[in-house]
Order: sequence, then structure tokens, then C-alpha cells
Amino acid sequence: MPDPSDTVLDCLRAHRSIRRFSTEPVPEEDLRRAVVAGQQAATSSNIQAYCAIRIREQGRLERLVELTGGQRKVAECGAFLVICGDTRRHRLVAGRAGRPHVSNLEAFMLAVIDASLFAQNLVVALESMGYGTCYIGGLRNDLPAVHEVLDTPEGIWPVFGLCIGRPAQSPESRPRLDTDAVLLEESYPTDESMLAFIDEYDDRMAAWYRRQGMDVPGWSARIEGHFEEPHRTRNAGWYRACGADFE
Ligand SMILES: Cc1cc2nc3c(=O)[nH]c(=O)nc-3n(C[C@H](O)[C@H](O)[C@H](O)COP(=O)(O)O)c2cc1C
Repeated sequence: MPDPSDTVLDCLRAHRSIRRFSTEPVPEEDLRRAVVAGQQAATSSNIQAYCAIRIREQGRLERLVELTGGQRKVAECGAFLVICGDTRRHRLVAGRAGRPHVSNLEAFMLAVIDASLFAQNLVVALESMGYGTCYIGGLRNDLPAVHEVLDTPEGIWPVFGLCIGRPAQSPESRPRLDTDAVLLEESYPTDESMLAFIDEYDDRMAAWYRRQGMDVPGWSARIEGHFEEPHRTRNAGWYRACGADFE
């Protein structure tokens, strides 16, 4: 009999984002089972500052395809969720008791961390059930327009979307940095030694890109491009408008 811990590790190691799905809807009971597992993720002081909004209506999904930069998978998957930081419940509890509810950077971070831990547990649960998933950070391209679709009250902050469904592709896993570049002893290594790990990773990623038929020189080239310009610069203002604060 396989060691159950190996089964979990094998499932985690087999992760790869899925970008083409069968469109058969994810049955409610499967989604609920996975969400129950997701909810058991650790949560800062048990505040449970997250929610997942399932969008089913085709017109709304099509609008979200546009808003995520044309990502068809948002409408063409078995279930699409918007994962949100949720401070609404805390506001309701405080308001009912006539007590202030104060939001600052720490409160924002708690909600984003909680939502991410929940989502990742949910993803692992779904993958263990044979589903594929893809996070959709493109949801943050235009948060005011996403808000028009969701119409959520103050204190709800969309963090990312999540496509779920039966995989209609079987992509090769994307390699990661050498574990010695991630699991460190006592402090941080010298820049030279970290750059050596990155050089080695660039070679493996370049080979991976070649196998996908893409001409990309490696990880560094992608990272250089990614952080050359700031992205989604209006989002701090939008999250503030929805009740967040970054003080
Ligand atoms: C928060 C977050 C947002 C992401 N947003 C998108 C997205 O908008 N579209 C997409 O195709 N993939 C998206 N991804 C998937 C990443 O590109 C992917 O996880 C990464 O390249 C590693 O590949 P792997 O998941 O196949 O191992 C996102 C992942 C995360 C964690």
C-alpha cells in the first residue's frame, strides 16, 4: 500500500497550471468538498478573511474574459471562482456591537495572506480529486470594472480568479529554482552564490521553453522584463475605495 504521505507529496509535485479545460461544470458536491478542505487552512487568529464567489452566468463570464486580457479559459472551464479578501464579516460584527473596525496595512495583508492560503489548500484538494486549476491574476487588471460585475460591498477585495475543471491538456511541469536557492541556512547567501543558482536555473528554463516550442533565453529574461515597469498602478487607490488602508 502506498505511504499516504507520498500520495500527498506526489500530488503537490505533480502540480502544473491547466489552461485548457473540458467545459463540463464542476459538480457542486465536488466543489464543496474541496472548499471544506480549503477552509481548514491555517488562518491568522482564526479571522477567516476570505470568500470565493462562483460566477456561472455566461454574460458575466464573458465580461471577465475581456477584463482578464482575453483569457478564454475564464469562461471555458468547469467552475470560475473569484477569491477575495473578506473583511466584510469583521465589519458586520464590529458594527453590530457598536465598535469601531479599523483597517490598516496589516489588516490588508492578513486578508490577502488568508485568501491565498485558503486558495492554495483548495487548489491542492482539487488537484487530488483529478481537477486542474489556474489562478487568474489578470482579474486585477481593471478592478473597478470587475467590481461592476461582482457588485460586492465595502470590505471585499478581489485578489485573483481561479479556473477549475477537468484538464483537456497535459502540460509538462515547469521547473523551479534549485531547492538550495530557497531553503537557506541561518541567513541569506552572497549575491554571487544566488546568481550562480539563477544561472543554473536559466539553463533549465531555457531547455524547458525550447521543449514548449518557445524561444525564451531563461528565467532571468522574463524577470527582467516583468519588473522593468510597474503593473496595475491604480489598484492601491481602488482597494482604498473598497475600504482598505495601507498605513
Ligand atoms: C496569483 C497568481 C496569478 C496567476 N495569474 C495567471 C493568469 O492570469 N493567467 C495564467 O494563465 N496563469 C496565471 N498564473 C499561473 C502562473 O503563471 C503559474 O503558476 C506559473 O507560471 C508556474 O507554472 P505552474 O503553475 O504550471 O507550475 C497565476 C499564478 C498565481 C499564483
